[in-house]
Amino acid sequence: MIPSILLLSLAAIVSADCPRSFLKNLTETYVRAQAVGDYDTFLSIINPTSGYRENGFLVSIPDSMPAIPVHIDFTRSVHDTVQCATFTEIIAATDPHPYVIHTRMEFSPGDPQARLIESVITDKGDWYFNAKGTLALNARESWEAIPKEKQESREVIRGVADSYFDRFGNASVVVPWGAPCYRVEGGFAVNGNLTASGDCIQEFPDSIYFPYRRYVIDQEYGAVDVFVGFPGLDSTEADKPMPDSHLFRVEGAKIKYVHTNSACVSDGCGNATMPQPT
Ligand SMILES: *[C@@H]1O[C@H](CO)[C@@H](O)[C@H](O)[C@H]1NC(C)=O
Ligand SMILES: *[C@@H]1O[C@H](CO)[C@@H](O)[C@H](O)[C@H]1NC(C)=O
Ligand SMILES: *[C@@H]1O[C@H](CO)[C@@H](O)[C@H](O)[C@H]1NC(C)=O
Ligand SMILES: *[C@@H]1O[C@H](CO)[C@@H](O)[C@H](O)[C@H]1NC(C)=O
Repeated sequence: MIPSILLLSLAAIVSADCPRSFLKNLTETYVRAQAVGDYDTFLSIINPTSGYRENGFLVSIPDSMPAIPVHIDFTRSVHDTVQCATFTEIIAATDPHPYVIHTRMEFSPGDPQARLIESVITDKGDWYFNAKGTLALNARESWEAIPKEKQESREVIRGVADSYFDRFGNASVVVPWGAPCYRVEGGFAVNGNLTASGDCIQEFPDSIYFPYRRYVIDQEYGAVDVFVGFPGLDSTEADKPMPDSHLFRVEGAKIKYVHTNSACVSDGCGNATMPQPT
């Protein structure tokens, strides 16, 4: 007979949960590697058989973004202890080559080598790109941990993000969105109208459908990031939508903040009048 104490520890090993400390170590390692352009360190956190993708394309690690040192002005990471996944936002506004990077990593419990890493990397020419604007807007926001009794369930957090994306293709969907009522779209604030009851009314198109949604959820911070394909902006090929990541902060079951990071397939996403950094 197997002693029950051993069964308990076996249960812990096979559980899908990943401790926050385990995941934090990996996001911190990733950010350090990116800051100095140390792709050997980056290699240490990805399984050699895993593919690494930038803006949807497979990239060899020596030619990857983590091989280039980037001056990081701000970073935050989201840790999903249930799915054993992470999301990291990097704003490099004062680098000679400004970037905004969103990275999603998937791990298997106990294995510090990711089974998948993918990044949406934006720079000049991408959708409303302006890293200085992203940095300034982000600096005004508060993404503190949410007290236990005010934390929403994973389902509610994910549902809020889903309603946002569903609304792009269905005018009947109500998006629960509260104050302060703006979205950081690239590096610009897109403001909505705040009603007397505290609801944020934003403008949406009605005919854009979002496939390929990949979620990273952190209940403690009310955070969910969703990697999606943003169809129809500058790609006529339905199977090659624009690589896109949206990070949400959900409080009181409503959107508080949204950060979008959208990589145009071609510069300007087909919009010659799109504002660009000066
Ligand atoms: C992550 O954990 C490894 C192994 O314990 C350790 O060597 C490394 O210093 C840690 N890295 C960070 C960024 O905490
Ligand atoms: C559109 O959204 C409404 C409200 O959530 C829902 O009842 C309806 O089924 C949706 N329509 C489609 C085509 O998904
Ligand atoms: C916000 O209010 C302004 C002024 O009333 C109006 O022009 C605009 O269409 C409103 N926007 C939305 C998304 O309702
Ligand atoms: C193109 O950019 C301009 C300037 O920001 C904006 O007013 C317009 O709505 C954009 N067009 C599309 C299709 O997004």
